[in-house]
Amino acid sequence: MSLVSLLKKKGRNTLFTTPSHSQRFFIYHKLRNLYKYDISETDTHNPQTALELAQKNAAKIYGTKSTSFLLNGSSSGIIAAVLACVNKDDNVLIWDNAHPCHKNAVRLAGANPIYYTISKNADWDIYEKTQPELIDSILKTSTIKAVIITSPSYEGVVSDIKAIKNLCTKYGVYLIVDEAHGALYPFSDNLPESAVKIADFTIQSLHKTAGGLNPTALLHCNCDIDVTEALSLITTTSPSYPMLASIEKNINYLNSKQGKKEIEKLIAEIKILQQTCSNIEFYGDDITKILIKSRKYTGFELSEQLFTKYHIEDERTNNKSTMLLCGIGTDEKKINRLKKALKKL
Ligand SMILES: Cc1ncc(COP(=O)(O)O)c(C=O)c1O
Repeated sequence: MSLVSLLKKKGRNTLFTTPSHSQRFFIYHKLRNLYKYDISETDTHNPQTALELAQKNAAKIYGTKSTSFLLNGSSSGIIAAVLACVNKDDNVLIWDNAHPCHKNAVRLAGANPIYYTISKNADWDIYEKTQPELIDSILKTSTIKAVIITSPSYEGVVSDIKAIKNLCTKYGVYLIVDEAHGALYPFSDNLPESAVKIADFTIQSLHKTAGGLNPTALLHCNCDIDVTEALSLITTTSPSYPMLASIEKNINYLNSKQGKKEIEKLIAEIKILQQTCSNIEFYGDDITKILIKSRKYTGFELSEQLFTKYHIEDERTNNKSTMLLCGIGTDEKKINRLKKALKKL
């Protein structure tokens, strides 16, 4: 039985179990349905079996050895991946400007961080790709257990994960890819190739671009390591089943005809926006992250103009460029509003 149908099932038993709200009493009535579907592991519904099945189905969809549902964001997936493949005192190669969870993961594993630096693209004031040559030069001279690569970057710069994986295989190193911002990639040929079938571990946030609720995410594994124990070190024994069911629904939606159509529609609309706004420069490997620059304004000024004049808020800005994040849920109306504003700048 799927997680979604399990939550709809009405039990016959009178439950003297957690959660004490008994699916009826609600303190915060706007979340009435959340209370209604909030069941527990001790419940006779046996939700663990449904969760196992949902994760197995997800692994089939992604073509991975295992896919685990996460309720504490990509941060928890990256920590679990490091805990799963790294031992105390091992060296882990991480980017010196990565999301803080990379360093935290290494620290929790009792391992040593070895840092690599990525150069900046001065024209756009954003970090470049991680060059395989750089990784090669470090792996050649140091004993490293695992490498963590962020791809795509926040702004949509994608690294050559296949080339980096080949190097990792050559030197016997685990490859962990932080694909937090690339959860749509497995579902469109018009987006960069996902790492899910390439890296040993790939972590994706469903909540960032794929329409998921905060902080739903996925940990994909493609090697012979079982991540169950590592996940148990950092995961509650009382997960939210409504949230887990939302992950199941989310993945099925992305993999459905309708979901894929929605992604292609978004890509097509952004392409039109790019063609229409000749006064604006666009950059990046991932079209859904609208990274823009104007000849007239600095990045900060551009962001300010969009905000004060048009009530449009970007995701991230620097001195040179501004990035507007799109994903499932970014509709035509929203894109058109941005198009109109950009044309007027
Ligand atoms: C590149 C990158 N990796 C990991 C994370 C952590 O993701 P989450 O918020 O899902 O824990 C973030 C969050 O912003 C991020 O930008």
